[in-house]
Amino acid sequence: MNMFYFILIIFIIAAGSNGEYHPPLKGMQYFSITCKTPEQLSLLRSLTNNPNVLTLKLSQILGESADILVTADESSQFKNILLLYKIDHTIITDDVEHVVHEEALKNNIVRMQSSRITLNKLSAEPFDYYPRYHEMEEYITFLAKNYSEIVSVDSIGTSFQNRTLYVIKISSGGDNKPQILIDAGIHAREWIAPSTALYAVHQLVTNQSNTYLYKNVDWLIIPSLNPDGYEYTHSNYRFWRKTRSINKGSTCIGTDANRNFDLKWMTVGASSNPCSETYGGPKPFSEVETLALKDYVMANNKTIKAYLTLHSYGQYLLHPWGYTSDLPENEPELRSVAERAAAALAAPFGTRYTIGSSTNVLYAAAGGSDDWLMGVAGANLSYTVELPGGRFDPPPSRIEFVGIETFEAFKVFQEYIEKTFVN
Ligand SMILES: *[C@@H]1O[C@H](CO)[C@@H](O)[C@H](O)[C@H]1NC(C)=O
Ligand SMILES: *[C@@H]1O[C@H](CO)[C@@H](O)[C@H](O)[C@H]1NC(C)=O
Ligand SMILES: *[C@@H]1O[C@H](CO)[C@@H](O)[C@H](O)[C@H]1NC(C)=O
Ligand SMILES: *[C@@H]1O[C@H](CO)[C@@H](O)[C@H](O)[C@H]1NC(C)=O
Ligand SMILES: *[C@@H]1O[C@H](CO)[C@@H](O)[C@H](O)[C@H]1NC(C)=O
Ligand SMILES: [Zn+2]
Repeated sequence: MNMFYFILIIFIIAAGSNGEYHPPLKGMQYFSITCKTPEQLSLLRSLTNNPNVLTLKLSQILGESADILVTADESSQFKNILLLYKIDHTIITDDVEHVVHEEALKNNIVRMQSSRITLNKLSAEPFDYYPRYHEMEEYITFLAKNYSEIVSVDSIGTSFQNRTLYVIKISSGGDNKPQILIDAGIHAREWIAPSTALYAVHQLVTNQSNTYLYKNVDWLIIPSLNPDGYEYTHSNYRFWRKTRSINKGSTCIGTDANRNFDLKWMTVGASSNPCSETYGGPKPFSEVETLALKDYVMANNKTIKAYLTLHSYGQYLLHPWGYTSDLPENEPELRSVAERAAAALAAPFGTRYTIGSSTNVLYAAAGGSDDWLMGVAGANLSYTVELPGGRFDPPPSRIEFVGIETFEAFKVFQEYIEKTFVN
């Protein structure tokens, strides 16, 4: 090898290691952990504050399992602490990389077998695999053309890497109807969220039994609010969570868009370190994606009556506040609508959701979109929906089931809006 290539290779290696840090997946262990006391839980929380630990699921509910990934380097130390404090745990897998590869392979096989690919046809059928963003775009564009009487598609802005942020409006026409806003994919790695949003679109658009749902109420559905991050989870790193914006003065990329909204921003549960998974950004609405949502919502805040933001996972139906354990004034209403929604959701397959405020069920975290929608924009029915998981996300074969049951919950919110705001 001549000197030029030698130097070139050194340069490439150096460039790689200078770049952002991703906890390596090779040999990463997947822990399922059950805390029985508040002390154990707070210890576990402190352990997750580590760049080599990825938290997939962690609630405040004692006895409920937490799902935590730990890199090969850190896992024996992590495990020793669990043992020392007698915290129940099992290791689901010893090599997360292998599971991620398997998951990607399976998704690709289903994609290749999918009728929308084999027959090369555009279709309003729901995705039976996790689509790439361009596939979502084709789908959305097709709907706007083929169902133009009820569907209109607009851009609410562009992502940091210039991808279009779409809102799909489903309406029977007319102005000033109450609206229900649904978004998904603020967190990049939560793949089931965009697919569930698109499943709802499919049901509304193609199913004649559902036309009553948009007779008096408009649906505004943003299937992916963080397409840059979503693409990155497919192409580079499966567990990416944040946006892909560049942070001045740091090699670390991205902001946690769900810590970036302007209500009690950065007061709790958010990090000011750009390398953190929960970095709240340099200022509220620093991200073009959250700013686009803000502008869109404020332009429609007289009509948006309900907001649902889809995340995964854990099967929680969470209402504000996320920044405090105090409950909002309208908590009885938030809870009773959520209880009905959860009952409707459980009807098809028995899936159970836990209901409560974000702070009390998960943890205090300010800057979430649901808090801002209710506290600032005035959408008094505001929820974070933590959809079901699988090993990470449910296998593609579960997308439709999650879609079906979640749509049953959506109908309950629609019914409430119609009853309350349509005379
Ligand atoms: C286009 O929409 C019509 C209903 O408006 C439907 O009958 C038809 O199947 C749709 N075309 C495709 C390719 O899905
Ligand atoms: C996005 O587009 C703008 C204007 O066209 C351009 O200035 C900018 O460099 C683009 N950003 C990226 C990340 O491609
Ligand atoms: C259409 O909607 C009805 C009522 O919500 C439901 O029972 C039915 O299964 C749906 N059909 C399809 C093909 O999804
Ligand atoms: C819309 O947002 C503004 C600004 O926060 C707020 O003052 C107003 O009450 C909101 N409108 C409604 C109908 O909630
Ligand atoms: C939302 O709740 C607030 C406080 O309870 C109330 O003042 C306001 O009128 C409600 N807005 C709507 C649109 O129902
Ligand atoms: Zn999330």
